[in-house]
Amino acid sequence: MEKVVVSLGGSVLVPGDDDARYVRALAQLLHSLSSRVKLFVVTGGGRVARYYIETGRSVGIGERTLDGFGIAVTRLNARLLSAALRGRANREPATAYAEAARLARRYAIVVMGGTRPGHTTDRVSASLARFVQANRIVNATSVDGVYSADPKRDPSARLLPHVGFDDLVRLSGKGHRTAGPSVVFDPVAARVVARDRIPLSVVHGRDLRALRAAILGESFHGTRVTDD
Ligand code: UTP
Repeated sequence: MEKVVVSLGGSVLVPGDDDARYVRALAQLLHSLSSRVKLFVVTGGGRVARYYIETGRSVGIGERTLDGFGIAVTRLNARLLSAALRGRANREPATAYAEAARLARRYAIVVMGGTRPGHTTDRVSASLARFVQANRIVNATSVDGVYSADPKRDPSARLLPHVGFDDLVRLSGKGHRTAGPSVVFDPVAARVVARDRIPLSVVHGRDLRALRAAILGESFHGTRVTDD
């Protein structure tokens, strides 16, 4: 069975926009796909993480502690998804890659959040994909793919249906270092997938048709990042 790691942004799972309905539909989709592919879902922190991080930073709390707040929220999101999957996934999010790999023997779907300070969940997804030798990573994010420029700032920005690994690294920009959510695919994570040549699909996570096709390795609306 193919192994697929899904990096599910918190901004997709719980942006505060009809979230219950989305979480139910997503759980149903993942449940149905889990008989065809082995799924590892890494949940991000989204705006709730951002809120805690920004509030904490204003209080003067240090970056490592703020990262810890972010990780806690990513794990809370993983618990929400796991509970919605009703026994199909581990209840307590995996906290390490080896643990995730072990859990995959028992559960059809493995959920996890962040691991340690200084990372993002995109980075966790890339390292997990490497560890379990996943066939691909699907980055379910809040935009529908990789653009030639920032579409919010540049009206001439185009969606790129296919980019190479080197383009991904270039378009992701430089690594971020302070706590808080990031760009389409975290720059450090981009370098990990580029180095290991792990195919990456970028889709809008709320577009369940695109998400389904990307998970199954079929053609989808979004961006494919591969060698060719
Ligand atoms: P993410 O940036 O991964 O959340 O983690 P995100 O929600 O996916 O971003 P969106 O939803 O796509 O916008 C939130 C924060 O948690 C900390 C970092 O501070 C990160 O910015 N974190 C997360 C860690 O320190 N380590 C981890 O392994 C994961």
